[in-house]
Amino acid sequence: MDKLVIEGGSRLTGTVEISGAKNAALPIIAASLLTPDQSVIDNVPALSDILTMIKILRGLGVKLQMEQGRLSIWPAKFTGFSALYRLVSTMRASICVLGPLVAKKGIARVSLPGGCVIGPRPIDLHLKGLAGLGAKIKIDHGYVVARAKRLRGKRIYLGGAFGSSVLATANVMMAATLASGTTIIENAACEPEVVDLANFLVKMGAKIKGQQTHTIEIEGVKKLHGAKYRIINDRIEAGTYILAAAITKGEVVIKGACIGHLGALVDQLRGAGATIKNTADTIYVQGTNKLHPTQMATLPFPGFPTDLQAQMMALLSVADGISVITEKIYPERFMHISELNRMGARIMKEGPSAIICGVAKLSGAPVMASDLRASAALVLAGLVAGGRTEIARVYHLDRGYDQMEQKLSRLGAKIWREKE
Ligand code: EPU
Repeated sequence: MDKLVIEGGSRLTGTVEISGAKNAALPIIAASLLTPDQSVIDNVPALSDILTMIKILRGLGVKLQMEQGRLSIWPAKFTGFSALYRLVSTMRASICVLGPLVAKKGIARVSLPGGCVIGPRPIDLHLKGLAGLGAKIKIDHGYVVARAKRLRGKRIYLGGAFGSSVLATANVMMAATLASGTTIIENAACEPEVVDLANFLVKMGAKIKGQQTHTIEIEGVKKLHGAKYRIINDRIEAGTYILAAAITKGEVVIKGACIGHLGALVDQLRGAGATIKNTADTIYVQGTNKLHPTQMATLPFPGFPTDLQAQMMALLSVADGISVITEKIYPERFMHISELNRMGARIMKEGPSAIICGVAKLSGAPVMASDLRASAALVLAGLVAGGRTEIARVYHLDRGYDQMEQKLSRLGAKIWREKE
């Protein structure tokens, strides 16, 4: 197993280029199952989660080839309909093959994803949506089995205790493209990745209106065709580098970042004292010597993304005062608190909130990554901490950050990978 080693204290300067969005790529790869034709997806990031999705499709009998960010997919002859526990348990996003499989093959058998370190992650909304379209759903020996001759369009309300769901919206939207009649998804998620998926489906011949809003209308068609598509860049990766610049009081240009995807983060950082400017596809960040504390909550888009909560907490741990972050998407997503505290941060969990008493300095320490975004938070803390930080279980980072240590090294960070 690898670990990341960081010698803290370098101020980041220069330009960093953002890769394709993991959370757009995953459902888009699954959507390619909706046609027998070849699809070609560009800007696919080289991440272990993408590799897992490729393995799931290969397991179904689909031919795929990845070459320098271009993924070519030939689903012509696939006959499989099962996504096995061995793969699904390593990546919950595997659930997004459920909708395309039942719509295209009339049957899907997908392992229930099971527990997750960021808290309970039920799939009731996925099942409710597909059942609403007429699929017969059964839970059988740890698997969801969904069957339907042809799905039928319907008005479906897709909200739960924590609001909209990104992947449930994706699953129902994908399934509805081949249903008879019209589907209306109410309380749909409108994250940029959902919009990107809808745009890909439209390129395949789907009839979709209202993506980017909370009411998406899909008029079913008999068949879809293959498409060539370039996925959007990763707003969470961009946000992580923006925060890396801010925490090191650096000066960084983030290339390939869309400010329209990051409004809540930019607003928070300006409030904290950082300077942020933008052009059409770059964001310039200049850190400040005195970071102001803040009170904030994570929310569905365009609110502050839960996937940047841990990284923002690392920043606020060195702000000048007391901040509060309330986690409204995953109230248990706070595993990073104890590790940040091992580095000298003063953070308390109080229900779904974290109270962060800013400290003047963090100190490097051996820490353990618990999940993808928690790992990124530890990297940010390591960049600003005095001395050496060693982050174990770095495979979490490889799920979602393309060449993170190379990108940070080019900005002047002292960071490298070692065998544990
Ligand atoms: N929820 C339900 N029932 C469901 C589905 C979700 O109650 O059937 C709840 C969840 O427990 C949570 C809330 O609804 O409280 C929102 O979860 P959502 O379904 O939107 O999450 P997801 O679609 O499974 C995606 C991202 C996550 C990101 C969330 C929230 C992908 C592959 N994953 O997950 O990304 O945190 O949306 O924005 O798109 C990450 O990249 O690190 C990551 C975890």
